[in-house]
Amino acid sequence: MKKTILTGDRPTGQLHLGHYVGSLKSRLKFQNDYDTIILIANIQALTDNFDNPKKVSENILEVLKDYISVGLDPNLVTFVLQSDISEIAELTVLYSNLVTISRLMRNPTVKSEIIEKKNKFSNDLITLGFLGYPVSQAADITAFMADLVPVGEDQAPMLEQTIEIVKKFNNIYGNILKVPKIYISDVPRLVGLDGKSKMSKSIGNTINFSDTTNIIKNKIMSMYTDPNRIHKNDPGNVEGNPVFIYHNIFNSNKEEVKDLESRYRIGRVGDVEVKEKLFKVIEEFISPIRERRLSLEGKDKYLFEILKSGTKRGRDIASKTLYNVKNSMDLNFLEN
Ligand code: TRP
Repeated sequence: MKKTILTGDRPTGQLHLGHYVGSLKSRLKFQNDYDTIILIANIQALTDNFDNPKKVSENILEVLKDYISVGLDPNLVTFVLQSDISEIAELTVLYSNLVTISRLMRNPTVKSEIIEKKNKFSNDLITLGFLGYPVSQAADITAFMADLVPVGEDQAPMLEQTIEIVKKFNNIYGNILKVPKIYISDVPRLVGLDGKSKMSKSIGNTINFSDTTNIIKNKIMSMYTDPNRIHKNDPGNVEGNPVFIYHNIFNSNKEEVKDLESRYRIGRVGDVEVKEKLFKVIEEFISPIRERRLSLEGKDKYLFEILKSGTKRGRDIASKTLYNVKNSMDLNFLEN
């Protein structure tokens, strides 16, 4: 029997190159060998967008299109919609006794998101739903008895917390849940076009799969490079320079990258040439994805079918888990 992968994304916008290197690439690598379940986490997305539900619902099919366009095969992968698997919500409630508030506040991802919220809104906007989302993520993962969870490095604290919950659960109620393993790709995080540490739709420093050739060109030609380099014969910094970071990830012509790097260091190549070469590489990577994406436009019925049948299968798995969980917690009172 195949082992199970569970991973997912919040449908709050289109997917981008950051998602590709952090997680989609691993999913593609594993889809043949694992029973891969991909969750569109629309309930989790509401924890940050509860006042804007349309933003979430309108992005469900967009994310599904991105998945299929990058090469996730609907014949191999089960795509599930979180809001139609109420077992996840029930598991969340059942796990919530196993986590303290202070432990949630110490979760590094939650912690930095709290700081972001405070900077943005200055008042207290930490809802119960937001603070508890690591618990619901533990429910996502365990509902499908996942063995492996491929994610970007920012999700590592979520996995740690999930593992803690699972171990605590098993300790108290018996060996019911599977302890999942995290899988972090060789490039766990991609810098943004602006040089900020992370490519992120909320910062607006992304290259999306749906970006046109022109948009990509403009984005790359205005990328952040070495800020201390004013003339093309100034020696430049390659380390930490996003243009070179992208070259190293996406350009398969390693000779060319080496040549550009050594000329950049001694001031023998302009930023324009380095960026033009990068544009070519990225455009070559994205154009087949973009084309597949375009071919899915207007195929909503087909996309709905994929999501519906996947969700149905997901619900069957999750309901078995919930049944076992409730049994072990003596919550089968009326069944005896
Ligand atoms: N928290 C993830 C993100 O923001 C999305 C997600 C929800 C997820 N449930 C999951 C990822 C379960 C892995 C496993 O990207």
